[in-house]
Order: sequence, then C-alpha cells, then structure tokens
Amino acid sequence: AAVLEPEGHELRTFTRPDAALDAAREEPPAVTITDFAMPGMNGLELVEALRAVSPDTTFLVVSGQATVEDAVELMKHGVVDVMVKPPRARSLRRSLALALSQHELAAENRRLRDALRAHRRLSGVIGTSPAFEKVLRLVEKVAPTDSTVLLTGETGTGKEVIADAIHELSPRAERPLVKVHCAAIPATLLEAQLFGHVRGAFTGAVRDRHGFFEEASGGTLFLDEVGEIPLELQTKLLRVLQTGEIQRLGEAQPRRVDVRVIAATHRDLEDEVREGRFREDLFYRLHVIPIEIPPLRRRGDDVVLLARHFFARERERQRRDDLRGLAPDALDVLRAWDWPGNVRELENVIERAVTLAEGGEITAADLPERLRAAAASGHGAVEITPDMTLREAERVLILAALERAGGNRKEAAARLGISQATLYRKLAQYGAAGERSAE
Ligand SMILES: Nc1ncnc2c1ncn2[C@@H]1O[C@H](COP(=O)(O)OP(=O)(O)OP(=O)(O)O)[C@@H](O)[C@H]1O
Ligand SMILES: [Mg+2]
Repeated sequence: AAVLEPEGHELRTFTRPDAALDAAREEPPAVTITDFAMPGMNGLELVEALRAVSPDTTFLVVSGQATVEDAVELMKHGVVDVMVKPPRARSLRRSLALALSQHELAAENRRLRDALRAHRRLSGVIGTSPAFEKVLRLVEKVAPTDSTVLLTGETGTGKEVIADAIHELSPRAERPLVKVHCAAIPATLLEAQLFGHVRGAFTGAVRDRHGFFEEASGGTLFLDEVGEIPLELQTKLLRVLQTGEIQRLGEAQPRRVDVRVIAATHRDLEDEVREGRFREDLFYRLHVIPIEIPPLRRRGDDVVLLARHFFARERERQRRDDLRGLAPDALDVLRAWDWPGNVRELENVIERAVTLAEGGEITAADLPERLRAAAASGHGAVEITPDMTLREAERVLILAALERAGGNRKEAAARLGISQATLYRKLAQYGAAGERSAE
C-alpha cells in the first residue's frame, strides 16, 4: 500500500480469498495482486475463481515459496507476473503497469467483441429505407437502457423481430428473453402465468410456480399484444412496473424482479384508452419509448431487399440450387403490391414461389394471382410519357401517390420523398380539382 496508494491507485486489501471474491463480484478490479499460499485456496484457484466473476481482471502473484513449475503454471493461466516475496517497489510498479495495460487491452477486446456480436445479430434484420433506418437507429439507442419500449405496427411488420434485436443488443442479452403472447392465454390464466402462484392458490395449482416475470429475471420480458390484457390485470401490471415487485398468486410477500419490459401491439392504444379498454396510466407507463414500425408499403425498395433475403433462405432450405434469382417482372409485381400482411406476407409469397418455380428464375407467373392482377390493372403504375412537361408528369405522379395513400397526405408526402408543406403547395398549384381528388 505504501508504494501503490501514493500513485493514485485505489487499493483494497483482503486477508481471505473468499472475501476478495465477494468484493470482486460487487466491483470487478482491474488488477488483482495475490499471494500464492493462502488459507482455503491457492493462488491459482483464486485466479480461476476471480476470472469467472470478473473476466477482464489481470493478475500478479507474489510468493514466498512458489517453485519454477508453479510460476510457469501461473503464467500459462494468464498471470502477468510472478514475484518473489517481498517484491521490490520498482519491480512492483513495473509489473503493475504491465498488468494495468493488459487489463485495458482485455476490456477493449471485449468491447469490440460485443460490438461485433451486436452487428452480427442486427444483420438478420433487413431494411435500408429511411423509414426503417429510423427504427433501427432508435433500436440502437434504446437497447443499452432499461427503458420500457412500446412497439406498434400493423400485423407482420416485424414487431417481434425488433423486440429480439433490442434484447440482443442490450446488456441483458446473456439473460433470458421471455415472450408472452397475451392474446393467446386465457385471461383467467394470464395473471398466474405472469406472476406465478403458490401451491393451492387455485384449483389445479398443485405446486409452487414462478411466473414469466421471475423467469425473465435479469433479462427481458416481451409482452406481445399487450392491448389484449384485461382491465383488472392491467392495474396489477402497472403496479409491478412502478414498484419492480411482483406477488405470486396466494403469496403475501412481494418479490423484487429485475426485468426490462418490451410491449407490442397492432392496435392503436390511444384509441383503446379513449374507448375505455386500456388504462391511461398503464399506457403512459408503457409509452416511455414508442417505436412505430412502418408498414412495408412505406419502406420503398426494402421490398426487394427482403424478397432477395427470403429467396436466398428458401432456395437453401428447399434445396433449389437450380433457381438463380428473381426476374425483373417478378420484382415489378412485388413493388406494385400494397402488402397488407407486410413482411410476413412477403415471406409467404416468396416461400410459395420458390416451391412452385419450374427452374431458372422466379418470374411474375410464380406469384399469386391477386398480386399479378393488381400490378396488371395499373395499380400503382402511372403513365408518364416523353411528350409531357415535367410539371404535368409531376402532377400525375403526385395525384397517383395520394390515391395510393388513400388520400393520406402525410403518407403520400413520405412516399414521394417531399415535405407535407411542399405537397400542399403543389396541390394548391394544381387548383381545386387536385385538392378535391386528394380528399
Ligand atoms: N426487417 C426484417 N428483416 C427480416 N425479416 C423480417 C423483418 N421484419 C419481419 N421479418 C419476418 O417477418 C415475419 C413477421 O415478423 P414479426 O413476427 O416480427 O411481425 P409482427 O409485427 O410481430 O407480426 P404480428 O403483429 O402478426 O404479431 C417473421 O417471420 C420475421 O422473421
Ligand atoms: Mg408478433
């Protein structure tokens, strides 16, 4: 201590290895200096035990009687230096500097590994459209926090995919992600399933059981279709979110749980609140970080990226090496469709096409009739010819985009890649007729 403390190192001293282990669990040390012969545990055992709780710690061993063999063994286990007792101040300083720099290297390595892993895990999530990139940026931002996230979006937009990504990118990734499909569990069972129960709490409760909250301890709980939770249970859920404590059914003593909650719904929860079907206070508690996943029809060429992704996957899965890819006419049909079932619908369409395709390429003929009919009827296609003025062409395009968006100007503007203000201005220029057809 006389040597190290004046140099600004924070030093904690222990006389027993198990006390050191407990402390390391609380606050991992950068470097551990340990004796070789100690009560209850030798230096090597302590190194192994500490490394398990604190993987980035580096070690110096001080020893009165370690043999050369011991020293070699210790170094093999990653001990930076083995010094004879008592070490001289100079050699202690030098070894400590080495151990510290190795610790920093180890920590940096692990940060890089984590980042790499995060990257790999996000790589199964396909999409580069501005609307989807916005979602991904939010995901990266909220993942490291413990904030409650509410995912909204039409069916098949990828709510579960995004919930997975948030968990995988979070510090909780090594702990469980527990998924609860709230709509699929009968209301009477849901409470016991979420919070657990003790034996005899109700007929059929033959033994104690923990619930999903306890199962997700240290990890993430995904409440899918949270809008379907009955009102009485919403009250209890709110209390759990506020206090961080659950109560097993039939048990008086509350239990603390450390769980991050991600909720999802295809409903407009604000509507549900207005209609009195969803508690307003719970809505605000869940709504801390809302992420709205845009429908596929607003993600531009993500349709093509996703189609190619699913195609590659299905070709492999169905062993269709004879298939080269998606023909341009097939892509045109895919682009023209509105995808009410979103990514899931696209996934099914491609899976079916790979099954049906004769060989060579997937063509429009391999796609479902409803898609082809829509594309053929000019659904989504407009006629722009070289003898039009740019202004005329623009007008045709803007009115078609409005029609496609069902008159929703915000959506039409997003589709066209212009601001709503610009859209309004252009519509005003086209005059009353344009305005009317926009309604
Ligand atoms: N961005 C994406 N990249 C790759 N696959 C995706 C993407 N989004 C969705 N998928 C795939 O589409 C399917 C539907 O996604 P998911 O189940 O996450 O949708 P959802 O919004 O939860 O739908 P629902 O409301 O019906 O529960 C899944 O098979 C999923 O793997
Ligand atoms: Mg889902």
